[in-house]
Amino acid sequence: MRSRYVVGNWKLNASLPGNESLLKALLSGVESQPGCHLAVCVPAPYFAQVRSLLVGSPVAWGGQDVSRFDKGAYTGDVAGGMLAEFGCRYVIVGHSERRALAGESDAVVAEKHAAARRAGLVPILCVGETLEERQRGVTEQVLARQLDAVLDGQGPQSLDGAVVAYEPVWAIGTGRTATSEQAQAVHAFLRARVGERDAALGARLPIIYGGSVKAGNAAELFAMPDVDGGLIGGASLVADEFLAIWRAAGLAPGRN
Ligand code: 13P
Repeated sequence: MRSRYVVGNWKLNASLPGNESLLKALLSGVESQPGCHLAVCVPAPYFAQVRSLLVGSPVAWGGQDVSRFDKGAYTGDVAGGMLAEFGCRYVIVGHSERRALAGESDAVVAEKHAAARRAGLVPILCVGETLEERQRGVTEQVLARQLDAVLDGQGPQSLDGAVVAYEPVWAIGTGRTATSEQAQAVHAFLRARVGERDAALGARLPIIYGGSVKAGNAAELFAMPDVDGGLIGGASLVADEFLAIWRAAGLAPGRN
């Protein structure tokens, strides 16, 4: 049976006092759930603060990006080893906002994925199509290209122990969620694509959904057989909402 993951992506929304009140509210209501993993991915300057608040709790933490380089003359970059030093367990790679705003190519994303693995982090590899791509009917080609960059560049085994996140760009921050059937169809496609290289790996790979997940739609999404949890943006900034999503993951029906 695959584990489930609920991961908050705070994006560029954080401050010392705001983080403290959000995490204290989260900790006052959170309970660990068997087979479920909970984490928040925060801006790098707050790793030390977040570690001090979350250490020993059921909530893990991680970063939102990682350098493809381990050290050297790369001004502004943050290396995977630095995240690991601050206790990060996860790092998001290839988020659509970085692909679009920072111009990250599939090849760069694959290098970042490899850098995360080298540092012992769990990469959360984001893939997703734009609205224009969906309307043109090229969703699967786009997702295959994004996934194959890692499968071909790093080998299928690089996804062993990683998490894949399907985040349709048109559903991020728009309030427009993919239907559970749309999400399920894409997750099944991604799992099959990995399964073509390694059937057992495809079967055990956690694939989570992101894009306007809220307390009100999480249960339906998480009930889909290939949806193993969520990557949560806006709703992860509201403790009660994020906790309700977390509980929905714990209540979702079992699967193989
Ligand atoms: P929203 O939940 O705000 O739509 O963001 C999703 C996302 O991009 C998570 O990485």
